[in-house]
Amino acid sequence: MTRIARSTRTAPRARAVEVEARAKLNLGLAIGPRRADGFHDLATVFQSVTLADSLIVRPRRSGFRLAVRRDDASLGGRPPRREAIPAGPSNLVLRAARLLAERLGLEAGADFTLIKRIPSRSGLGGGSADAAAAIAGLNALYGLRRTRVQLLALAAELGSDVPFALLGGTALGLGRGERLTRLTLACPFSALVAVPSWRVSTRSAFDQIDRDKYVLTTWRTKLKFARSIGRDAVDAIRSLRLGNTFEQVLGDRRQDFERLRDRLMRAGAEAVRMTGSGSAVFAIPGPGSPAMEVASRFAGSETLYAVRSARSGVRLRMLP
Ligand code: C5P
Repeated sequence: MTRIARSTRTAPRARAVEVEARAKLNLGLAIGPRRADGFHDLATVFQSVTLADSLIVRPRRSGFRLAVRRDDASLGGRPPRREAIPAGPSNLVLRAARLLAERLGLEAGADFTLIKRIPSRSGLGGGSADAAAAIAGLNALYGLRRTRVQLLALAAELGSDVPFALLGGTALGLGRGERLTRLTLACPFSALVAVPSWRVSTRSAFDQIDRDKYVLTTWRTKLKFARSIGRDAVDAIRSLRLGNTFEQVLGDRRQDFERLRDRLMRAGAEAVRMTGSGSAVFAIPGPGSPAMEVASRFAGSETLYAVRSARSGVRLRMLP
């Protein structure tokens, strides 16, 4: 990609910007065949939820620095697994900041403080949310005045889920997940997210889909169904009927997933799905049964989070 334009204004517009970087659920996710570029075509209904990391962005003359802290937003029960979170150049916050600075000619830098609440490598899009927060935060702090289209193009270079993390709300994702159509949610909903202690490697899960060719036999039908979801306001429960191809390639973990789904159903869920390539699973409660009630009846050692559907992916607060 070529440079969009050189930025002239680098004076900060605030003492700091605090960005709420929200997790996502894939209400449904159908994976298609591998393309010539190595990615897979997919069709998904993305939904932002209230579980969020916080990214504080403070102006700095030049260069980018990152400090990471953890915060536990779970409902109790088993505390979140203490995953190593890289604070070095591989962290998506720093990768996003460096890419933005290079593309937009931003000479100033920033000190980032990332407060991590979204469990890593669980299909909840935490890393993508952090990258989107860095883009939105720098754009606001330095008044870069880029259009949404320009920022979304930048986001797509960082990962397939980063454009949605920036756009937020409810959206149909096609292509490798970066071709987005904003949708309207018929009714806000709450959900209970359960995160097992085991994890799934996204790359291996995609490889497994290539090997188990039978899982792709329904791709065309699923694509058609996904496109039909957005014709009217989105019904969350109906979107779950799209399924999630990753649930079919869990191998040895398939039983663990099925048992978790059954326990959530017994606790009062109306529908249960895996999000992304897992291993997090979410449950939408039956009518008149709030997520907290499902949590109180749930028998298991998974880490639980109560979330609500959200209308945006990032939320900015300027600290004057
Ligand atoms: O785009 P992102 O960095 O999230 O992708 C991580 C990996 O997941 C890719 O390198 C690719 O192997 C796989 N992937 C894929 N098809 C997609 C999205 C991701 O094969 N639509």
